[in-house]
Amino acid sequence: MYGMVNKAVEEMVVSAHGETVWRDIKRRAGVTEEVFISNEGYPDEITYRLVGAASELMQTPPEKILHAFGEHWVLNTARKGYGHMMAAGGKSLGEFLCNLPHFHDRVALIYPKLVPPRFEVTDRTATSLKLHYITHRAGLTPFVEGLLSGLGRMFDTAARVTLLQSKAGGGDHDIFLVEW
Ligand code: HEM
Repeated sequence: MYGMVNKAVEEMVVSAHGETVWRDIKRRAGVTEEVFISNEGYPDEITYRLVGAASELMQTPPEKILHAFGEHWVLNTARKGYGHMMAAGGKSLGEFLCNLPHFHDRVALIYPKLVPPRFEVTDRTATSLKLHYITHRAGLTPFVEGLLSGLGRMFDTAARVTLLQSKAGGGDHDIFLVEW
């Protein structure tokens, strides 16, 4: 993944727990990079190792860390660093989610080696939809739940997210019912 992802993990940890904790996490994860470069590619494994080390050090399940990272990504990283793209994504939660399948197309114009997830929307009503999340990466369901929760907060919209089908549970991809 692009370095911007690891940088965002770093920013989340440092703002909540300080530089020393971040250095401990990197050491525990066996990550030797002094800094991450936003537009350089890094093996996915580095991101997973950072999350694993943070989980061990803070005695918090990795799922909880990924969920918090999803919220942080929307409310801080994306909104502050890519405000124009987030604004162009839609004026309400429903509109934004309906545009989500094409969201990373625009991101890929800036980051051409992006390997983004795929999203599809079905069963849209005025107050709900099903969001299909398709990826070759494992274990990121709680990250998506955190992203959705962050989007709800961004639009000041109380949203309920229910996992209807999961890859971990044997499905071929994750399906979330989002109701608002
Ligand atoms: C301007 C805002 C955004 C930027 C710049 C961005 C960029 C990225 C980048 C760089 C990656 C790592 C993939 C790679 O490096 O090959 C990624 C992955 C991902 N993005 Fe975004 N993204 C943004 C917004 C969103 C939003 C709004 C969602 C969903 C609500 C989302 C969902 C995901 C997911 C789930 C992944 C994990 C990869 C996977 O599942 O395979 N992103 N994105």
